[in-house]
Amino acid sequence: MSNFTGESLRRKYLDFFKARGHKEIPSASLVPENDATTLFTGSGMQPLVPYLLGKEHPLGKRLTNSQKAFRSQDIEDVGDNRHTTFFEMLGNWSLGDYFKKEQLRWFFQFLVDEVGLDPKRIYVSVFAGDKRFNLAKDDASVKIWQELFAERKVEARVVNNPEEEGLAGGRIFFYPAKKNWWSRAGEPEKMPEGEPGGPDSEVFYDFGPKWRLHERSPWKDQPCHINCDCGRFLEIGNSVFMQYLKTEEGFKPLPKKNVDFGGGLERILAASQDQPDIFLTDLLKPIVDRVVELSGKPYEAKHQVPMRVIADHVRASVMLMADGVMPGNKEREYFVRRLLRRAIRFAHQLGIDQPFLDQLVPVVVKIYQGHYTDLADKVELIQAGVAEEEKKFRKALATGLKKLDSLKVIDAQAAFKLYESYGFPFELTAEIAAEKGFKLDKDEFEKLKKLHAQRSRTASAGKFKGGLADKDQTTVKFHTATHLLHAALRQVLGEKARQRGSHITRERLRFDFEFDRALTLDEIKQIEALVNEWIKADLPVHRQVLPKDEALKSGAIAFFGEKYPEMVSVYTIGKTTDDYVSKEFCGGPHVKHTGEIGGPLKIKKEKSSGAGVRRIYMGYA
Ligand code: ALA
Repeated sequence: MSNFTGESLRRKYLDFFKARGHKEIPSASLVPENDATTLFTGSGMQPLVPYLLGKEHPLGKRLTNSQKAFRSQDIEDVGDNRHTTFFEMLGNWSLGDYFKKEQLRWFFQFLVDEVGLDPKRIYVSVFAGDKRFNLAKDDASVKIWQELFAERKVEARVVNNPEEEGLAGGRIFFYPAKKNWWSRAGEPEKMPEGEPGGPDSEVFYDFGPKWRLHERSPWKDQPCHINCDCGRFLEIGNSVFMQYLKTEEGFKPLPKKNVDFGGGLERILAASQDQPDIFLTDLLKPIVDRVVELSGKPYEAKHQVPMRVIADHVRASVMLMADGVMPGNKEREYFVRRLLRRAIRFAHQLGIDQPFLDQLVPVVVKIYQGHYTDLADKVELIQAGVAEEEKKFRKALATGLKKLDSLKVIDAQAAFKLYESYGFPFELTAEIAAEKGFKLDKDEFEKLKKLHAQRSRTASAGKFKGGLADKDQTTVKFHTATHLLHAALRQVLGEKARQRGSHITRERLRFDFEFDRALTLDEIKQIEALVNEWIKADLPVHRQVLPKDEALKSGAIAFFGEKYPEMVSVYTIGKTTDDYVSKEFCGGPHVKHTGEIGGPLKIKKEKSSGAGVRRIYMGYA
């Protein structure tokens, strides 16, 4: 058995590929930057799609990293020994450089010689071809694997149809496209035109037959094969031969043949310890340990599901919040809310009914701060956000659960009422309903939600007339004042005070920003004073149109999570565009000189506006 920690294994992998000519690149954010196809970064290749399609990468043709990934679709699977929503994907890429021979050899070498896995415990899968799309069987990979196993004196029989034949004494297994083809959209038929994809070869670790009947396996009565999910074999890495592009006329070769490799850090770590529970690796165990402490219950079979759910969900929430996604009702934000609320509900099963989530945040941060160095600075913000969400939810939960208990029938209508009145996520009501034998109709729920949203939009349409669109002089003045306020906040409170949103009427401006506590009177006075000082100084307001990268380099603040075009408009307030008080990506319009704002301006109100977010109202004194 090896003594790897998550940290040392990650380093080992990156160094292994660096020694083979790869450049290490940082993990991209969990919020995809230029990719509208998914809400979250779910694999290492996602931020690299333009390069896989043929664009030249500034760092060359060989890249490696450990990418943070979040797969929201796996939320219901969490609870067994190996599924998580958040995980780290070790990746290496060849952008039109090396191909199958090097890739399969290197990963095998890494597992056997560096991680110390017994080659007899390693099994592999290869693509069986797909006649419908004229995609050939991957005999080349079979040949390479045969050589690799032969060098280690391991017999390597090929099995053509493992789903029927079972293991059949094999080592190399052919699977159809539904298992051995990879693209962001899945199988060949599901891919849209313009999407790259390719056959892949997966590597599995055998924990031994005693794990076969492990846990909740629905496959326990079927023939076991390496990809059957019974719990005995664990997929630990996948080499995708990214060489095709889906087009109107079917699959065409990409300009270059690429390799896209992804391996689960937690899973390789579990394999290195020859124990199949990733929650016992040091990337998750400290969280589980803290839950054991808080609940006073041991980590044994009957408590494992809730403990794993809590550990996974809190870890995922911390990582998402660190990347700027706070709990809320919008698409992405809703996932964080759902994760935290699910964690609270599962904690209830363990008898934890006091607020506890914020205590787990530093535990997660401690695990990851060595590699993700931005985390340490964000602990307090995340803790505050988590605590606020928990407080809100516990209050709603108590009332809502009472309500649910009193219902004779739980249906979509009831679920919508609970959602609207107590913030119960649909899934939560569905889970409780299922325990009571009711099945909820999600489409019906969504319909009710949409109908409600439409109604409230019509009701409030009049309210927004005073927005920026009508270019009313007062609103333009407040718009420039918004930039001054943002700059003053950052000067007084630090750069953590990041804008989340704003809204302007003729009477006032409203400004939301990330911050974990109420402002002191003194801070409010300082902020006001700065804004008024800048107005008095009658600073010029400059507009420039710049390439996005250049704008970012020059220090302009971009709105987090927003997608910007290649050329952007930047407004700078200050004597010159280098000597300024504020510089932001913005479409305008603005006043020409800050003096036009008049004033003085006053902060009329400062209050909380959701988890980790403060709201300021400012208007004329
Ligand atoms: N992109 C491949 C995956 O996510 C490596 O499995």
